[in-house]
Amino acid sequence: MAKRLNVLATGGAGFIGSHVVVELIAAGHGVVILDNFENAAPDVPARLGRITGVDIPTIRADVRDKEMVRRALGRHGIDAVIHLAGKKAVGEAVAQPLLYYDANLGGGVALLEAMQESGVGKLLFSSSATVYGPGAAPMDEDHPVAPSNPYGRTKLMLEEIITDAVAAGAIESAISLRYFNPAGAHPSGLIGEDPRGTPNNLFPFIAQTAAGRHAKVRVFGDDYDTPDGTGVRDYIHVVDLARGHVAALSHLMAAGMPQVHERFNLGTGRGYSVKEALTTFSRACGFQVPYEIVARRAGDVATCVACPDRAARVLGWRAEMTLDQMCADHLAFQREVA
Ligand code: UFG
Repeated sequence: MAKRLNVLATGGAGFIGSHVVVELIAAGHGVVILDNFENAAPDVPARLGRITGVDIPTIRADVRDKEMVRRALGRHGIDAVIHLAGKKAVGEAVAQPLLYYDANLGGGVALLEAMQESGVGKLLFSSSATVYGPGAAPMDEDHPVAPSNPYGRTKLMLEEIITDAVAAGAIESAISLRYFNPAGAHPSGLIGEDPRGTPNNLFPFIAQTAAGRHAKVRVFGDDYDTPDGTGVRDYIHVVDLARGHVAALSHLMAAGMPQVHERFNLGTGRGYSVKEALTTFSRACGFQVPYEIVARRAGDVATCVACPDRAARVLGWRAEMTLDQMCADHLAFQREVA
């Protein structure tokens, strides 16, 4: 097995972060969570304890609190940081851009400063496919970047800040992971995504509708240039996504890559339409989840699908789980929280 690392996971109690924590521990690493619990349930660390059998040290703090981050890095002998903390709702970012620049860029810069001051040199950053401009699918990492909203711009800007920090030697090396559309939940049903308020994203909305919390799923447009007219996305099981982080961490720690900032897509390379997602989720439930076709949502593109070949080639990682699995696991979690 690879060397045991001590990893600080900012946002480690969130949807993706919690799954990353599970896979890091399964791979034999030690983890410390730093999370402000603004968008995470307070019992996530206890649930992670049930899944992993490990009592995971958890610091309730905001990543903008540089002093707290610095103390966490020193006290726990951290070898690498996975930076997942951040705000992620596109609509909210359009309405309140300064909130997003403060949280996502302010948080990123504070973290980089704390890492530099503590001599912790290795960083994995949660970026997003939202950094890409429109164009033909599948998209590889050289696809032109052109985010269409302030949320996406925070992801791209922080990638660029990380590039500058690495070039200047403030930190040693970094990897940005560009996520496509995470879906599903841990097969235990103990952790997953149950957003507060009305979900923006398709999967939580379908799951809450199946649980009777909404009358219908609104399908945003059926007149796109796609096989059935509804939007096509590259949904990736969150456990596959989490395992991508473990593979990227091994690559990051390997000798011989100082002063590099690499980017990898984490997606499956396979797109599914909104209608296919609804059909598959309905099959998992055993009944048709009700839906109606409504107007297109502003800012949506027809298709967004990854070319995941670089991650396969360099990290030795590929997504393995099916859309059926994503639906079954999401449903199991929804039943657990309902
Ligand atoms: N959709 C519906 N009804 C809904 C919600 C979504 O029809 O209630 C459709 C959308 O129009 C789109 C698809 O389902 O065709 C997926 O929509 P999501 O909101 O789940 O995901 P997006 O692809 O719009 O955005 C997601 C994340 C972003 C991230 C982006 C990466 O929300 O944070 O993927 O490309 F940036």
